[in-house]
Amino acid sequence: MATQNEFDTDRFVIVDHPLVQHKLSLLRDKSTPTKDFRELVTELAIFEGYEALRDLPLEDVEVETPLETMTGKRIAGKKLAIIPILRAGLGMVDGILSLVPTARVGHVGLYRDPETHKPVSYYHKFPPYLSERTCVVVDPMLATGGSLVAAIEFLREAGAKDIRCLTLVSCPEGVRAVLDADPDVRLYTCAVDRQLNERAYILPGLGDAGDRIYGTR
Ligand code: PRP
Ligand code: URA
Repeated sequence: MATQNEFDTDRFVIVDHPLVQHKLSLLRDKSTPTKDFRELVTELAIFEGYEALRDLPLEDVEVETPLETMTGKRIAGKKLAIIPILRAGLGMVDGILSLVPTARVGHVGLYRDPETHKPVSYYHKFPPYLSERTCVVVDPMLATGGSLVAAIEFLREAGAKDIRCLTLVSCPEGVRAVLDADPDVRLYTCAVDRQLNERAYILPGLGDAGDRIYGTR
């Protein structure tokens, strides 16, 4: 497995907390049933979201405790935007919403052409004022990078400035493609696996994330 240093940038973080590694092994296991898989995706999104949002801007807020008045902190600015890449990205939305329940949710509809492995776009819709929001793009898998790069391009065209992408399992080709395609994007993942196979699936990976989340196969 690749390590973070290989990519030599502060825009790329591998979230490798022991609890994350433990849950990731359960997620990879082919005998993990659909219900457990879905729950694990949500739990991993929470850990990753916690890390990716650690520098959200704060502002002062006056709070009256039962004893006196003090100056506390609250999240400043417009509500965050969560952007799942359909369909597997939807599996990570509830986890991020549990951290930031007031977030808005946009969508990017993409699927990979089975022959070319290139993303085919079928839908996107975003909340307004994207340029003022922290945008959190979620998709469990980063393989060739084509899907995530396309999603980032749609968001930039719509005015997004602060884009943070969260994937669960990535591979070196995908990480490079995303970091090279956009000089400002920030990328978080829980693991960088060895390589892609001839069908552009990640090895060792976890299989088809969308099929495992929804039990479609
Ligand atoms: C998967 C995955 C990513 C994409 C990654 O989606 O959820 O969106 O492939 O591959 P890439 O990095 O090579 O673009 P898929 O196209 O299988 O669609 P689905 O989520 O609808 O199953
Ligand atoms: N999409 C998936 O769901 N899994 C992979 O390994 C690659 C792309």
